[in-house]
Amino acid sequence: MLQKTAVYPGSFDPLTNGHLDIIRRASDIFGEVVVSVLMNRHKTALFSQEERMELIKEAVKPWPNVRVDLFSGLLVDYMRKNNITVAIRGLRAVSDLEYEFQIAHTNRTLYPDMETVFLMPGENYVYLTSSTVREVASLGGALDTFVPPHVAKALRAKFAK
Ligand code: PNS
Repeated sequence: MLQKTAVYPGSFDPLTNGHLDIIRRASDIFGEVVVSVLMNRHKTALFSQEERMELIKEAVKPWPNVRVDLFSGLLVDYMRKNNITVAIRGLRAVSDLEYEFQIAHTNRTLYPDMETVFLMPGENYVYLTSSTVREVASLGGALDTFVPPHVAKALRAKFAK
């Protein structure tokens, strides 16, 4: 295992089994993994940042080297401030590449000491996104193959209101 801390940044609105698969893989490689939730300025999120953090904290309990945090502003500023030089991103399919390359190159231009490490989720998760999960939840569909049970419960509670 590498004696390095890596950040796994994202919106996580909500955490899916695909995110968890990436977290598990990252925790096998890096000494510490910080899952950091973006406090979105523009997007109106379904879950508040505190709710998203709590849902992630519950899900990462099996991995002692994973912790959960929040960030706002530029990812590179957060990384510099916390002395982190590795960012993890999940790459599901070729369709993710353009967006991810854009972000990774912009980040590297802003912070040349950093590296973005791409991890592939298991093939069961290549189609899975938080937005499709929100859509299924809003229409009352079954959620159990997409998200952990406590996230499914939180989604059902949101849309029962
Ligand atoms: O889960 P997401 O929404 O795909 O995550 C995107 C995220 C949070 C990694 C990205 O939007 C981000 O880092 N935003 C913070 C602002 C920033 O640093 N942008 C990168 C330069 S364009």
